[in-house]
Amino acid sequence: SPTQEAIAALIAAEMHREGPLLPILHSLQSAFGHVPAEAVPMIAEALNIGRAEVHGVMSFYHDFRSVPAGRHVVKICRAEACQAVGGVGFADAVLEKLGTAWHGTSANGAVTVEPVYCLGLCANGPAAMIDGRPVAGLSAEDLVAEVSA
Ligand code: FES
Repeated sequence: SPTQEAIAALIAAEMHREGPLLPILHSLQSAFGHVPAEAVPMIAEALNIGRAEVHGVMSFYHDFRSVPAGRHVVKICRAEACQAVGGVGFADAVLEKLGTAWHGTSANGAVTVEPVYCLGLCANGPAAMIDGRPVAGLSAEDLVAEVSA
């Protein structure tokens, strides 16, 4: 896991900014793939704010993870047009097959599932993204098979 020195250096690099909290969180997440738990008290101390405030901002912006993502990240569209063509059942089936919940990671650590709100593939929904690659009209079985291969 990342060293305290590495975390401290990334925090220090953003301290000159106005409103440094979000830049610090983005920087840590892009360096480590998540915001390590040990960074939270360090950020709080550097910015002279409470740990709860750091946690609050992290949970408000769902982009930040407190644990590493799985090897694959699946984003499933939850916007209206996809919901109208079976998106709810599709998402439920994917989550059930993977044994996780929104923002969670499957028990074997392979797949993280996140919601997304319209991928511009509304005509072919339900739409999703697998590791940044848009896919549409897949069955839940096919999607899960792709990330399990
Ligand atoms: Fe799902 Fe547009 S509503 S891709």
